[in-house]
Amino acid sequence: MIDPLVSLRQRIEDAARAAFGDEAAAQDPAIHRSAHADYQADIAMALGRRLKKNPREIACALVDKLPADDVIATAALSGPGFINLTLQADYLGAQLGQMRADARLGLPEAAAPQTVIVDYSSPNVAKEMHVGHLRSTIIGDCLARVLEFQGHKVIRQNHIGDWGTPFGMLIEHMLDERAAGGEASLRELVSFYKIARAKFDGDAAFAERARGRVVLLQAGDAETLTLWRRLIDVSVQHFTGLYDKLGVSLRPTDVAGESRYNDALPGLVAELEQAGLARPSEGAMCVFLPNFTGRENEPVPLIVRKQDGGYGYATTDLTALRHRVQALGAQRLIYVVGAPQSQHLAMVFATARLAGWAPPSVRLEHVAFGSVLGPDKKMFKTRSGESVSLAALIDEGVDRALHAVQTKAPDLDPATQAGIAQSVGIGAIKYADLSNDRIKDYVFDWNRMLAFEGNTAPYLMYAHARCRSILRKAGADDVSTTEPPCIEAPAERALALELLNFVTTVDKTAESLQPHRICQHLYEVATAYAGFFEHCPVLKADEPLRTSRLRLCHLTARVLAQGLALLGITAPDQM
Ligand code: ARG
Repeated sequence: MIDPLVSLRQRIEDAARAAFGDEAAAQDPAIHRSAHADYQADIAMALGRRLKKNPREIACALVDKLPADDVIATAALSGPGFINLTLQADYLGAQLGQMRADARLGLPEAAAPQTVIVDYSSPNVAKEMHVGHLRSTIIGDCLARVLEFQGHKVIRQNHIGDWGTPFGMLIEHMLDERAAGGEASLRELVSFYKIARAKFDGDAAFAERARGRVVLLQAGDAETLTLWRRLIDVSVQHFTGLYDKLGVSLRPTDVAGESRYNDALPGLVAELEQAGLARPSEGAMCVFLPNFTGRENEPVPLIVRKQDGGYGYATTDLTALRHRVQALGAQRLIYVVGAPQSQHLAMVFATARLAGWAPPSVRLEHVAFGSVLGPDKKMFKTRSGESVSLAALIDEGVDRALHAVQTKAPDLDPATQAGIAQSVGIGAIKYADLSNDRIKDYVFDWNRMLAFEGNTAPYLMYAHARCRSILRKAGADDVSTTEPPCIEAPAERALALELLNFVTTVDKTAESLQPHRICQHLYEVATAYAGFFEHCPVLKADEPLRTSRLRLCHLTARVLAQGLALLGITAPDQM
């Protein structure tokens, strides 16, 4: 495993055992990067409390048991009981050499690959995708890529909203449009929905037809189903266009909309009833779960069949979950859905557990996220108060990026500039989203996300392009030897330590489902690279230093490009 912390932790554990016995070895040390050494271990305070001893004495005893070896160069007492640790330069070089030799940068293929479902994006048919779907799409796509990179079998599920009463009015509106000589407006999905809605609200006869159409749709009337499918096709085309534009890996074959589960809904409810999990309540069929109560402590039911006999999200989600476990063989189910749906999903999960559809070995996870806010810290809207269209947002990002690229790199030809702007604009939008702890809201701020300084996509892309530019100038684009670089200067060491964090970062991201961990890691790599660039001449250095430093540049470029790729962001070779 490429991560110096693994070896360090092992050595500290051994030292604790040697000094204080088995009980002490169980104390997990906290190890951080430190300004005073490579790392600082914090274990003596906790161990001191447990063993009722002075932390300084404990740290002293541990330091005694941490002699220099092939990993540790020095271990020294610091402050009230910290241990400062410096690693052997050869060890760092050898670890980097292993990373260089591996196409996966040292990340082992999952020993027990799992089938993982990632449910994300999931927009609604006949409505244009808006900024509200942006987060689910971007976060979900990143998680799918990370899990795939680890070697798991990822099944993407785009649980689109393709069923329900609005289809009555949408189909009737489509028929009106056809009667008037076309259905061109279908391409403008937002206005299509709005016009249908307005007619439904303002025209009693139309509303009547719409309601009748819902009945026909639910009854499986052939002509109605054809019209309905047309709406879905156009919408999926619209979504796919946006995914392509955004560099999101969802394909039409990943679409598994709500309607797909229709036939199984009545049987599922019957099963819940027979198992004694669902019972009638005020005309509806409900699951009552002991731990779900409302504000006044009243039990909150999960409604699996409504009073009118219809089915809602809960039943569809339960059916989809059962299908994913039983038919798709999912061992881990990840739902990338906004935080407001936390209780809904928690109840769906709890019900699935009780019903035996998700055995304890299957992980069910809600990847919740906060809202995108406007500059006024309120929900992100256009000036006229409408939700922001995703297509317009992407265009604006690319446009703004083009301006930045034209100022930054005026000498590049326009086609190259346009290509870079594409990566930068889209990368900036994605990165601004992914780099925040997902559960928090964040403010959508063009200037911040497009800045070339700070924890931004342009900053990382620029660091990557800088590495590539040095390699180009050296004529060493392919530094294919796997020999380790030499780690001597402090800035080389600092860069090495950040690069060696890659494998653990990917694993932690996959475990916690928090993309911002990768962002933070890449930012630290890019910052360390800036220090290296400032203090360590590469092209002007004498051999063998020059080659050694080129190897560091090459590995840095690979880590940045791979890390960005896991975020769904492409890194241009020049900027
Ligand atoms: N279509 C829903 C919406 O736009 C999101 C669905 C999320 N996925 C799920 N399995 N419930 O709000």
